Amino acid sequence: MRLVVEPAVAPLTGRYTAPGDKSISHRLAILAGLADGDSVVSGYLDSADTRATLAAMASLGAVVTEDQGELRIRGGRLGPPDAALDLGNSGTGVRLLAGALAGHPQLFDHSVRLVGDESLSRRPMDRIIDPLRRMGGRIDDRDGCLPMVLSPAPLHAIRYRPPVASAQVKSAVLLAGLWADGETIVVEPGPSRDHTERLLPAFGVEVSRRGEEIGLVGGQTLRPGRFHVPGDLSSAAFAAAAGLMVPGSSIELDNVGLNPSRDGVLRILEAMHGRVDRHAGTAVGNEPVGSLGVRASRLQGVEIPPAWVPLAIDEFPVIMALAAVAEGRTIISGAAELRVKESDRLAVMCRQLARLGVAVHETADGAEIQGGRVRGGVVDSCGDHRIAMSLAVLGLVAEAPVRIENAEWIQTSYPGFVDDLSALGAVLRWEEEE
Ligand code: S3P
Repeated sequence: MRLVVEPAVAPLTGRYTAPGDKSISHRLAILAGLADGDSVVSGYLDSADTRATLAAMASLGAVVTEDQGELRIRGGRLGPPDAALDLGNSGTGVRLLAGALAGHPQLFDHSVRLVGDESLSRRPMDRIIDPLRRMGGRIDDRDGCLPMVLSPAPLHAIRYRPPVASAQVKSAVLLAGLWADGETIVVEPGPSRDHTERLLPAFGVEVSRRGEEIGLVGGQTLRPGRFHVPGDLSSAAFAAAAGLMVPGSSIELDNVGLNPSRDGVLRILEAMHGRVDRHAGTAVGNEPVGSLGVRASRLQGVEIPPAWVPLAIDEFPVIMALAAVAEGRTIISGAAELRVKESDRLAVMCRQLARLGVAVHETADGAEIQGGRVRGGVVDSCGDHRIAMSLAVLGLVAEAPVRIENAEWIQTSYPGFVDDLSALGAVLRWEEEE
């Protein structure tokens, strides 16, 4: 499907509520499925990715029911699935699940096949296969990619320093550590989102943190409970970007997760002279949550410190869209990880921006973008939800309509995107592609 975005003729205004956090939703589906008994989860993100993880847990024997927007997940009795677990487009789903299952005692003597769509089947899995094998995990793979077949087996603890700052790798190793003999320690090469470490204690699992070392002793029992998923800053970032760009706009964003390991985008927006006021609210579980006040701003280009990259890893497509209309040049470096996301986000975003007349230069680990005017035209999401949404936001300040092909991928993380932006005054409509 093609999404057509009309240039905004009036400011965006109103209140916006962020949808549930994708990272936290995946983790809750998995942890509740491991915990023995009934957990209740409210605010779970309803998207293709998070449904895939929930469906995988159901195929493994978790009983998932929904009642008035709350999920009830009966976990603790896992068994081999009848068919391959298809995680669709979800890197988080497949990597965390592989960790959680690699040493799961209820699956010993069985095997579990993990598959995904075309994009996920190209993404690197060796980053989790390597540490899981060091723990004794038995995994067959196709040259470091999916499909993967796990033959769950007893694991031993390791001390592991991942070569990249990745929450998915850290989480896969920690989840495998739940079943390992001894204390599994992950030494973080740099900070990455810490939702797993924050959630495990809520399931009764003791996690230690000493500087950059995170440790967990195997053999602990997970307790079910009642959980709420806070809003996703990564989704709210699109509405915030729209509010910053469209002249005269003023938006209040509620229910926004403000975990400091995720707030790189806010630091970057502030460095670009974006007027974003943060208001701390009541924490949800161990997660800080608040609201944001966003006002249209004269954005300035910025040189983004490489140390901020992992803290804003999913927001680079929308940051690149903002850079396209900022005054001056934006320089991104140290961001090679963007090449192994749902698409090669550096290459794809640079190509699409160039199609809209933006002066961009792709580098090995980043990009340089000269802000200026943005033409209308036809662009392509290349199967990447965040590229589709970033280009849609940019369309609001283009000189003519922007048509985004393959925009249906937005369903991956944010099915309510078009409705939410429309409620703020944006004009977007779906069109069949011939
Ligand atoms: C995620 C971690 C990030 C991020 C992804 C979600 C998570 O990936 O890009 O969208 O929930 O742990 P990496 O940890 O591989 O950087």
